[in-house]
Amino acid sequence: MQANVQPLTLPLHGDDRGKLIALEALSELVPFEVKRVYYIFDTTPGTVRGNHAHKNLKQVLICISGACTIVCEMPDGTKSEIRLDWPNRGLLIEGLVWRQMKDFSKDAVLIVLASEHYDEADYIRDYNQFKKECAK
Ligand code: TYD
Repeated sequence: MQANVQPLTLPLHGDDRGKLIALEALSELVPFEVKRVYYIFDTTPGTVRGNHAHKNLKQVLICISGACTIVCEMPDGTKSEIRLDWPNRGLLIEGLVWRQMKDFSKDAVLIVLASEHYDEADYIRDYNQFKKECAK
């Protein structure tokens, strides 16, 4: 699978009462079948989460409250930082990408849509191992 990091924009319904986003017909919004949803919240100030890559997992990250920054390192070593700070901004991550989540605001709730069930064997948690896999 080609490593890929790509912003996604979720359809926003808004009027003078406020805003609404429906995660419906997910197959039209997200390029994989969603098998798992988890969320990260009440993050300790200054903490950096993630620090891993996945072998097969595809994910879409959405910060539905507050903001956080996603740092992605591609197999060729290029790095990008994406600030997720609005509930209709998503970030697709697939393939061999080293990712970190940092600079969480106090109210941040980061929802992750995932293509597979939780499987520790799919994680690469050692950075040197990640670089070895990238060199293959
Ligand atoms: P961890 O991978 O350290 O989270 P992050 O990537 O955000 O830094 O996961 C924290 C704990 O939660 C760890 O014990 C594994 C567990 N966990 C699950 O049980 N199911 C899940 O879907 C996820 C993502 C984590």
